[in-house]
Amino acid sequence: ELQPVILSGGSGTRLWPLSREKYPKQLLAIGEELTMLQATAVRLAGFQSSIDGDAAKVRSPIVVCNEEYRFVTAEQLRAAGCHDARVVLEPFGRNTAPALTLAAHASLADGTDPILLVMPADHAIKNVNAFHAAVSTGMSVALDDAIVTFGIVPDRPETGYGYIQAGGAFTKAGQASGGAAAQALRRFVEKPDLETAARYVESGEYLWNSGIFMMRASVWLDAIHRFNPDMADACARAIGERHVDPDFIRIDAEAFRASPSDSIDYAVMEKLSEDASGALRGVVVPMSVGWSDVGAWDAVWEVSDKDDSGNSVHGEALLEDTQDTLVMSTSRLVACLGLRDAVVVETPDAVLVADKSRTQQIKSLVTRLKLDG
Ligand code: GDD
Ligand code: MG
Repeated sequence: ELQPVILSGGSGTRLWPLSREKYPKQLLAIGEELTMLQATAVRLAGFQSSIDGDAAKVRSPIVVCNEEYRFVTAEQLRAAGCHDARVVLEPFGRNTAPALTLAAHASLADGTDPILLVMPADHAIKNVNAFHAAVSTGMSVALDDAIVTFGIVPDRPETGYGYIQAGGAFTKAGQASGGAAAQALRRFVEKPDLETAARYVESGEYLWNSGIFMMRASVWLDAIHRFNPDMADACARAIGERHVDPDFIRIDAEAFRASPSDSIDYAVMEKLSEDASGALRGVVVPMSVGWSDVGAWDAVWEVSDKDDSGNSVHGEALLEDTQDTLVMSTSRLVACLGLRDAVVVETPDAVLVADKSRTQQIKSLVTRLKLDG
């Protein structure tokens, strides 16, 4: 069986002022009808695997989020038609590796060993059919006990991503036409510096890590046990026998506190390529699905529909002589004159006006806001 796992723990400070500590980005509908969490939860609707039988059955998702957001999360899932989703509540974040470990334990509760499809709650995927095809490919490899990642052909030396070196070389054109097949993972490097990232992109041999993974629950638990026994131990104790609760799966905070904090990428993926024992195998499935990590406002502009002047407008706005600009208003009329490559986001108590090429740096603004009170 296929068990979707949705990681929904981020805060999204770069999407200020729309996202706040009180309302992280995955719970927002950024220029769309569905929130990013809802879009993720329904992304597998209609999934048809090329594999027959029980293996292809899709379970309701397991969502891992902070306990503070349990009611909005449950409500949004219900509103999206996801009635039997299970929600694992973290009292605090320990990054993605412990979150996935908790979900893996919860998924084993009924005595089967499902294939986990791990999805961040804050990504956009435009071509759902192509994504289904990639998942189907990934499933056949994951059934064979591999740890699968989904790779994206890079178009810039982004330092916030993981980079994957596989067997061959990749081109956008080749990937789009070929529906590329799974390849052995040679090397995984999380968040390289700019110089290294540029070298990787230049070489044509590397893919971005999309942050979407697939593996058997038991294979993940083995991997975490091998590479980080303290984390494996703390998470196993934290979830204990609590996974019988039907709606919310609460964990033992004291046990969880003992878990080291680390990401899937550092804790397992980087180590996979170095693991000489051969007991664990990494595989990358390249995909061309209109993937985007909606990390900052420039990415929101990138993925949303635009008018003839390249403007993406949400809410009530009046634009004149304005190009390639993102305008979002939530409560008041926004008027723009003579702008280019700008971002304007209006909310009742805060307004952002920024150069679109600088929106990655909003983090530092938000840090200052916190310091200044
Ligand atoms: N439940 C839970 N608990 N979820 C979490 C936690 C946590 O402690 N920390 C992060 N998440 C969720 C975030 O909400 C997000 O959906 C996802 O896990 C990934 O976390 P990020 O913090 O956004 O990771 P990243 O963007 O720095 O890097 C990852 O994604 C890139 C692609 O977007 C890595 O996998 C990179 O290798 C990858 O390229
Ligand atoms: Mg991210």
